[in-house]
Amino acid sequence: MGLVDDELSEPYSIFTYRYFVYLWPNLTFLAFHKEKCVGTVVCKMGDHRNTFRGYIAMLVVIKPYRGRGIATELVTRSIRVMMESGCDEVTLEAEVTNKGALALYGRLGFIRAKRLFRYYLNGVDAFRLKLLFPRQNPMLATTFTDGGDDQLDNQYECSQMYHDF
Ligand SMILES: CC(C)(COP(=O)(O)OP(=O)(O)OC[C@H]1O[C@@H](n2cnc3c(N)ncnc32)[C@H](O)[C@@H]1OP(=O)(O)O)[C@@H](O)C(=O)NCCC(=O)NCCS
Repeated sequence: MGLVDDELSEPYSIFTYRYFVYLWPNLTFLAFHKEKCVGTVVCKMGDHRNTFRGYIAMLVVIKPYRGRGIATELVTRSIRVMMESGCDEVTLEAEVTNKGALALYGRLGFIRAKRLFRYYLNGVDAFRLKLLFPRQNPMLATTFTDGGDDQLDNQYECSQMYHDF
């Protein structure tokens, strides 16, 4: 919780964390370096209108560990689970001022689907970003299927959280 609280502008309660982690434990990933948690991605998935949609709720890597591909690996792993679970698409919101996150998701193929006026409590607008899966875009298949583990530097370890923590 501290990791996310320190780095994201939106305040989240313990109930928000429990909602995501208890209901979709296979969609929370933590990155560790020497037993220290240095990054996390927290997601969910479910029906949305007539699609089955993945949603990335939180993504954080602590400052000293940025720029090494850790966030890309965390997001890629969660997207892979979403694909394997039959999702049609993935969405998330990012502050329009968050150049790093927008660049990261842009590189992964996300498009800006909508601008949400004053979406955040701090008054900043959001972009709703969307990634359509290979059924619509075959070029993405190789990015999010097997082989992704090779991208992860050996000294980092990503793991999924389960109920027994
Ligand atoms: C955004 C964040 C998760 C990126 O983590 P990271 O581990 O450094 O990201 P990666 O190393 O995987 O970066 C992958 C690519 O994203 C882009 N990117 C990431 N951070 C960037 C930055 N600050 N400025 C510009 N581009 C950036 C780059 O294209 C980068 O590739 P490159 O290093 O080859 O140029 C991290 O900066 C963070 O935790 N920020 C605070 C919380 C936050 O904004 N979360 C996202 C909410 S939507």
